[in-house]
Amino acid sequence: MPKPVFLSGIQPTGVPHIGNYLGAIKKWVEIQDNYETFIMVADLHAITIPREPKEFKEKTLEIVALLLACGIDPKKSTLFIQSQIPAHTELAWILNTITPLGELERMTQFKEKKDRAGALAGLLNYPVLQAADILLYKTNVVPVGEDQFQHLEFARAIAKKFNSKFGETFIIPEALSDKITSRIMGLDNPNKKMSKSAKNPNNYIALLDSPEIIRKKIKSAVTDSGKEIKYDRENKPAIANMLDIYAAFSEKTFGQLEIEFREKSYAEFKEELTELLIAKLTPIQKKYKELSKNKNLLEKILENSKTKASKIANKTLLEAKEKVGFII
Ligand code: TYM
Repeated sequence: MPKPVFLSGIQPTGVPHIGNYLGAIKKWVEIQDNYETFIMVADLHAITIPREPKEFKEKTLEIVALLLACGIDPKKSTLFIQSQIPAHTELAWILNTITPLGELERMTQFKEKKDRAGALAGLLNYPVLQAADILLYKTNVVPVGEDQFQHLEFARAIAKKFNSKFGETFIIPEALSDKITSRIMGLDNPNKKMSKSAKNPNNYIALLDSPEIIRKKIKSAVTDSGKEIKYDRENKPAIANMLDIYAAFSEKTFGQLEIEFREKSYAEFKEELTELLIAKLTPIQKKYKELSKNKNLLEKILENSKTKASKIANKTLLEAKEKVGFII
């Protein structure tokens, strides 16, 4: 029996942080053995926001090296760059022609834009490209954080629509996410998610933050009133978020942690969280440093992945084009 397919992606923008890691990357690493795995650096999505071209190239390679350092194994996973596979934009165009504008205008990412008229068409069409990413590989599951659920719902809806209009072509994908880590909140505000593009660097712990920076950031993380270390999302959102992070990195349960920290203060809990983060991130950072020096290796991995991903994507694209009625 062939393995089921999983595909997911990350944009090479901003600062990759522990929210990305716990909500997505860690899961990818854990399940890559059990699936035919496609992991994509979503550079086409990333150009919907302004960037400096030279820096952008570096950022793209940086994220490739970082994913490998986190444990994505190129022997098990096809780790590729989205823009190197033209089938993504081609299928996105076809899907655009069966997508009602109203549906795109209702998507959160677009709705949040205050200046609608000035917003770029690429941002509006962003979910259509993401649907193409997923559908091209006949993906069964998409492991993502909660902020991507709406995009996944859209991909499911558009796949069903295409299938019913033109005949069975696409698999209807399912989201895969972990309840606890699918939404890691900002350390500066536990009511808003940790974000790559946050203006305040105290919002996140970046995967490449040094031990000193991690110490400083955890020290300045907001806490709640009271002094008990207790998992209470409603009344103690900041502590609950730090417990989520602690539990995910230590693989311990909240119950275990509540017992472990029963007699301890917020400051002591923060100190232990800091040491845990340093212990978990240092090996990733070491690997990242080695890998980012080895440009030849990165290029070779990307070249192999490009060949494999193109083959699969082109086959599905051809099927879709045939169904739509193109001469091929
Ligand atoms: P991106 O680059 O914003 O985020 C990458 C992954 O990290 C997850 N994530 C979080 N998880 C938990 N807590 C957080 N605070 C947090 N912040 C981010 C995201 O949910 C995501 O899983 N549009 C996508 C990239 C993409 C994609 C795809 C994903 C393009 N095509 C096809 C899946 C399938 C994005 O911008 O992810």
